[in-house]
Amino acid sequence: MGFKRDFIWGAATASYQVEGAAYEEGKGLNIWDVFCEQKGKVFGGHTGEVACDQYHRYAEDVQLMKQMGLKAYRFSINWARILPDGVGEINPAGIAYYNHLIDELLANGIEPYITLYHWDLPYALHKKGGWLNEECVEWFGEYAKVIAEHFSDRVKFYFTFNEPQCFIALGYCGDVHAPGLQYGYREYFQICHNVLKSHGKAVLVLRKYAKQPVQIGFAPTGAFYFPETNKSEDIEVARKATFEEFDTVEGSMWHVAWLSDPIMLGHYPEEGLKKFAKYLPKITKEDMELIYQPLDFYGQNIYNAVKVRAGKEGELEIVKRYDGFPKTAIDWPVTPECLYWLPKFFYERYQKPIYITENGMSSTDWISLDGKVHDYHRIDFYHRYLKELKQAASEGVDIAGYFAWSLMDNFEWAKGYSERFGMIFVDYNTQERTIKDSGYWYKEVIEYNGENL
Ligand code: NOJ
Repeated sequence: MGFKRDFIWGAATASYQVEGAAYEEGKGLNIWDVFCEQKGKVFGGHTGEVACDQYHRYAEDVQLMKQMGLKAYRFSINWARILPDGVGEINPAGIAYYNHLIDELLANGIEPYITLYHWDLPYALHKKGGWLNEECVEWFGEYAKVIAEHFSDRVKFYFTFNEPQCFIALGYCGDVHAPGLQYGYREYFQICHNVLKSHGKAVLVLRKYAKQPVQIGFAPTGAFYFPETNKSEDIEVARKATFEEFDTVEGSMWHVAWLSDPIMLGHYPEEGLKKFAKYLPKITKEDMELIYQPLDFYGQNIYNAVKVRAGKEGELEIVKRYDGFPKTAIDWPVTPECLYWLPKFFYERYQKPIYITENGMSSTDWISLDGKVHDYHRIDFYHRYLKELKQAASEGVDIAGYFAWSLMDNFEWAKGYSERFGMIFVDYNTQERTIKDSGYWYKEVIEYNGENL
């Protein structure tokens, strides 16, 4: 046993991180265009104005994907590229761009997976209050309709939101990401609720206007825990920490269950509802029905997790990482076990096929004297993580696919171009691309469907 025969091996990117062409062919402004203009917000004053220039180089990029043997490409639509004001008039050049990209992918045997929202809200909607304005549900619905009408004849797979935890916490409560706000608790919970309703609305609209049956999910992140041993007490503590502990609002911002339970189970976690009651917006039965749309799969971005055990009284104990613990260039710990335990936990809780929608690492890559990129650490990272995922699959967890983050080096948000997550190296001076050793390694894994791991 291992991965299913039709397992989807893919790689992911996001519009603002790779497209560039920020001011071209009728695209409207989005909150990241504007955030990057402000001094001191992004490392080195970098912006996504050019990024990887995928807007002009998509055909070349699809050829690289083909060379890597990818079965699927997960990319996001830049909302203001197709609807410059967020709603209303459509930009034909924006639609044409995604049509070309989709056609090119399909012509090369690569399945497109569309993410509707990977953080680049049209600036025109931001000026109207953005995600804090309850009208966002209608705006997102209109956007989803445009996507369904123009792309669903060819695109079967959709994710509504990417990592809502991240853009809400860092963008609206932390001034680290666009739009750079520092809202309080009430606004935080209101935005969560609005985003959840927008998700539900988009699912309804996509299904209603799609030109063929489509499959829909979303791609959250979270703070994850895994047990030190196989003992049931340790497992219970890890599961509880992942899904049930709501001590502070700040903690809840990274809590996967706060957003995933309403979408997958139809209700917010009880403990959080009690604890945060005084900050919560009005939550109606109709709201919860809208949010709880049947989904086809459960997507999850996972990079690392915290190892825990049960203490003497069954309480949560964090297992301290030893000095010199392995970490990636961005300082994230290397904890491959998370790709065994978390898919298990999610499958038990939400009972849907699982896609790992992002996983990967940043490394200090450069082009060697021989013209190649020898990213041995990244190969080792993927190898360890994928072995764990394979084990989960072998034990019966229904895992539908895996998307490496990222297809190519790109604009890493507030860290600009200082972090390289790609399997393809991008020289930002020349836009020259070089498939890294990890990209060739991944090709073999795909060929063997993971049997060689
Ligand atoms: C999460 C985000 O979805 C993606 O945009 C980001 O680049 C990676 N993880 C790495 O931080």
